[in-house]
Amino acid sequence: MKIVSQNGRLTWGGLDVVRLAEEHGTPLYVMSEDMIVDRIRQIRDRFLDRHERTRAAYASKAFLTGAMACIVRRENLWLDVVSGGELHTALLSNFPMERVLFHGSAKSKPELTYAVKLGAGRVVVDNMTEMERLSDIAQSEGVLQKILIRVSPGVDSHTHKYIQTGGLDSKFGIPLRGNGLIEAIRFVMNSASLELEGFHFHIGSQLKDPESHVLAAKALVSRVGELRTDAGYSPREINVGGGFAAAFSPSEESAEIGTFLDPVMKTFDEYFEAEGIARPIVCIEPGRWIVSEAGITLYRVENVKDMPGTATYVAVDGGMADNPRPSLYGAEYCAFVANKMDEPAGAPVTIVGRCCESGDVIVRDARLPMCEREDIIAVLSTGAYNYSMASRYNMLPRPAVLLISNGIADTIVRGETWDDLARYDFIPERLRASGQGAF
Ligand SMILES: Cc1ncc(COP(=O)(O)O)c(C=O)c1O
Repeated sequence: MKIVSQNGRLTWGGLDVVRLAEEHGTPLYVMSEDMIVDRIRQIRDRFLDRHERTRAAYASKAFLTGAMACIVRRENLWLDVVSGGELHTALLSNFPMERVLFHGSAKSKPELTYAVKLGAGRVVVDNMTEMERLSDIAQSEGVLQKILIRVSPGVDSHTHKYIQTGGLDSKFGIPLRGNGLIEAIRFVMNSASLELEGFHFHIGSQLKDPESHVLAAKALVSRVGELRTDAGYSPREINVGGGFAAAFSPSEESAEIGTFLDPVMKTFDEYFEAEGIARPIVCIEPGRWIVSEAGITLYRVENVKDMPGTATYVAVDGGMADNPRPSLYGAEYCAFVANKMDEPAGAPVTIVGRCCESGDVIVRDARLPMCEREDIIAVLSTGAYNYSMASRYNMLPRPAVLLISNGIADTIVRGETWDDLARYDFIPERLRASGQGAF
C-alpha cells in the first residue's frame, strides 16, 4: 500500500485530503476508482487470462453504491449480491441480471421472487427449505432458474471466528459430507424449474495464504468423484468464494491475487485432468481485496485527552457507527494525521470514536505526531465493510462517499443530515400534542 504526501499533507487519488475534508465535511469516506480498477485488472491479468474457463464476481457486501455497480459492470465482472436491497441497487445501475449471483443464508420469499423475476444469473441456494421454496417460485413464474448449491466444506480458516464461514460449525450451506448434499442434488435433478450449475463455498475472510482455499478445493474434488457415482451428477461450475486478504497498513505487502489462486487452480486442474474430464468453470468472488485498500476515512479531531498513567485519547468525530469492525471483531487499522505528514511521531495514542461505548476504539497504539483539535485523521484501508456496515447509532448521520478518478472527486453518496435521520419517523396523533401544555 503506497502513501503519497505533498507539502506535508496526505493525498489520495492525487487530491489533498485535508482540502477534501474542508470542502465536504467529516467523517468522510474517500474511494479511489483508479485503485479499484487496478485491482480488477490484476484479477483479469493474473487469473482470468492466466486460466481458461474462469470467472470473477465482485462481492458487493464489501461496498456497494450505484457508482460501484457501474464500475463492476464496465469492467465486465459478475456481481454477488446478498439481499433484495443489493439486488435492487444493481438493477437501478442497469447491471446485467444474467451476471448476478444471489447469495444469502436466509433469503426471504419476496427476495427470491424478485431475483427470479429479474432473471438473476445464479441463485446460490443455502439449504433445503430455500431450495423447495425457490423451486415453487420459479415454477409459478415459468422460469428455469440456474442455481449453485452452497456447501460447507468443513475447513476451519485461519481468521477471526466471526469471519470464518466454511467450518463444520457454520450457519452457511449444506455440509459437503453426508446425505444432505445428495438429497439436495436429487431434488434439483427432479425439479422442472431448477437447473444445478454446480457448487459454491466461501470459507472465511481476510485469509492471508491459500492454505484454506486449497484444503476446501481438495475436500470438494474428493466429494465430486463420489457424487458422480452416488448421485450421477458432475458440476459445470465451482465457485470458491472470496476472502483474500487486504493490507491495512503501508508496512504490509498487498497480496498478489495469483498467490491465492494459482495453488487452487492447480488442485482443480490436476484432479480433473487425472479423471479425464473437463474442469468445471472456476469462479471467484472477492470483496475486500478489490476495494479495501482503495478507501480511506477522514475524521476531524475533537479533543485530545491525556489520562495520566493510562493513555492519551485522540477523540474524533466518527467511530463505530461508520466503522464497526474494530469493536465487532478487533480489526486493526492504521492512521495518519493528514495535515502533519512531515512531522515526527510521538508517544502512542489511542484514537477513539464519539459513540457512547467504551469499546469505540478505532486504532490502538497509533504512532502519530502530536495531535490537536481540528487535525484531520486519515484511517487507511476502510474501503471494505465500512460504508456497507455503517449504522446510525447515537443518531449519527452516515457520512458521504467521494469517488476520485483522474484527480476529480465526485460525491457518489450524499452524507445524511439530521433531517434524514428523522425522515421515516411517524408520531402517532395521540402523542403529537401530548405534554405540551404548561406544567
Ligand atoms: C459468500 C461470500 N462471498 C464472498 C465474500 C467476500 O469476502 P471478502 O470480502 O473477504 O473477499 C463473502 C464475505 O462474507 C461471502 O460471504
